[in-house]
Amino acid sequence: MRVLSAMQPSGQLHIGNYFGSMLPNMARATKAETSVYFIVDLHALTTVQDPALLRQFRMDALKDYLACGIDPTRSIVFFQSDVPEHTELAWILSTVTPMGLLERAVSYKEKVEKGIQASVGLFTYPVLMAADILLYDADVVPVGKDQKQHVEIARDIAVKFNNAYGETFVLPEPEIQANIAVVPGTDGQKMSKSYGNTIPLFGSEASIKKAIMGIVTDSKGMNDPKDPQSCAIFQIHKLFLSASEAQALAAEYASGLPYGEAKKRLLLTYMDHFAPLRRRREALTEADLRDVAQNGAKRAREIAGRAMERVCKAVGLR
Ligand code: ADP
Ligand code: TRP
Repeated sequence: MRVLSAMQPSGQLHIGNYFGSMLPNMARATKAETSVYFIVDLHALTTVQDPALLRQFRMDALKDYLACGIDPTRSIVFFQSDVPEHTELAWILSTVTPMGLLERAVSYKEKVEKGIQASVGLFTYPVLMAADILLYDADVVPVGKDQKQHVEIARDIAVKFNNAYGETFVLPEPEIQANIAVVPGTDGQKMSKSYGNTIPLFGSEASIKKAIMGIVTDSKGMNDPKDPQSCAIFQIHKLFLSASEAQALAAEYASGLPYGEAKKRLLLTYMDHFAPLRRRREALTEADLRDVAQNGAKRAREIAGRAMERVCKAVGLR
């Protein structure tokens, strides 16, 4: 079985991404025969149009993958733009993709409503994503709810192609991990880059401290009983704890743990928990990153090249 996972290099990784996507995807991929991880820098061009920033985000994303424990000797790790087969296949797929399929994509509408430029690339984003998936014969694509429709579109495009040209593609399944908690941000809403309420995974200690100490709380007095269920500090802290540790902490909230103290404890747990990841990230050299990306792209191109041969033959380009 082949599991495929991809991430946009579009900013600093936060703990919502880590607990909501990175960690469950890694857990899923360890059960697979092959796992493919890549950084979709071509997709990022739909929103990041500052070259210096994109360069930075690409490198950060690769460091994030490796720091979080993705092992490039066991998985294939690469940048999308290093494998030109992605854009080649996207073009061919676009010729069998009905306009209506893309017109129904909610993510496009949501992005345009948020003020992102309604470019052709933003509109055909799901076709490039379909190419990402179909090139690798991925059976399983673990994604968050927001990406489910995109994987379904990839599947619909594969069906269209197979019907037109004969069995060519494996039909991918989106896999939504149902029990994943939505991580609250420092204001209690869903943590998201676009709400400015994130706690960065690998930011400076000062920026993490500032974010944690700034978590919004209600106006209960210092030693009043607190409700852990409605408290963002507790909901975040819980992510680092076993069930019994979380229960014990909840009991302390109920008996009046002051919010200031609760935040200090969260900060300690946070720094401790991510210390090994931070060390791994800091030890990465430019040469390490280059080796991983080059070797990953080479391995990816072997698979993607075979898929393109199949596709080109099927449509009559060979
Ligand atoms: P953002 O909302 O910060 O722009 P993305 O949309 O880039 O984050 O999300 C990347 C991945 O991280 C997605 O799979 C998404 O489901 C997951 N994710 C993002 N924010 C959260 C959150 N607050 N809780 C759980 N998962 C999240
Ligand atoms: N659209 C995905 C996101 O924004 C990123 C992505 C691009 C992707 N290609 C993919 C995810 C292929 C899984 C498989 O998060």
